[in-house]
Amino acid sequence: MPNIRRQFNIFAAVIGTMLSCAMLTQAAPLTRRSDFPAANLPTTTSSTSDSTSGGAPYQGGDTYTGPSGDPAPIAQIFPNDTSQYNTASGAVDFHTSQGLVYRSITDGGADITTLVTFELPAQYSSNWCQIAFALGNAASWATGSLQAQLFTSLAPATTDASSWPSGNLRDVDLGSIDIVVGGEASFQAGSGPAAASDGFFPCSLIAGQVYGGEIVPQGDAVEISWPAGEDGIKIIVY
Ligand SMILES: *[C@@H]1O[C@H](CO)[C@@H](O)[C@H](O)[C@H]1NC(C)=O
Repeated sequence: MPNIRRQFNIFAAVIGTMLSCAMLTQAAPLTRRSDFPAANLPTTTSSTSDSTSGGAPYQGGDTYTGPSGDPAPIAQIFPNDTSQYNTASGAVDFHTSQGLVYRSITDGGADITTLVTFELPAQYSSNWCQIAFALGNAASWATGSLQAQLFTSLAPATTDASSWPSGNLRDVDLGSIDIVVGGEASFQAGSGPAAASDGFFPCSLIAGQVYGGEIVPQGDAVEISWPAGEDGIKIIVY
């Protein structure tokens, strides 16, 4: 069962929550960039690895049971790209060395969210995947509410931008997480479909394709930082 797996798995982390109900009704989780209207794409795109079909909506809950028998993870997949998004200006700082989720009561709405691009190798298409978030690196830290929301993106960031078309292209609210400094985040109960499945989903939903996601501050004040591609958000493969 998920709780047992979480205890077993040192990497089990969490995923975040997601969108507003209104967006949820119109959004298809884990939508491929190529599914997004071309007119709204970032100006420089490369969809070479984005050619396969598929990408079913994230269902969560009982639908996604996860692996049976508490197997050990066979891989951890970190984002290929980590970028920072300014919610006030719409600017994207593409391919940063640091993931950052930031909000303060004095930032004037200029929150920082982290945009991530995942490219899960096609070889895992028959495996179970789990969205997770851990802060185990000495260079990672978190203060404040220690809460974040996880969203899918309509399309991943591909370049620096002073104002990304349609903002951050936030899509489906997967759920919210409680960050643990030096450990694994846990999903907030009832916060979204990923919370309902403890982050598990069939890897086939995204294997061989490129997907974007976003980690968003939750609460009045929070700061979460991690070295990109080494800690923080990841997909665990079973
Ligand atoms: C993205 O990361 C995956 C998993 O580590 C890797 O298999 C793939 O080659 C990477 N893609 C690029 C374009 O670097």
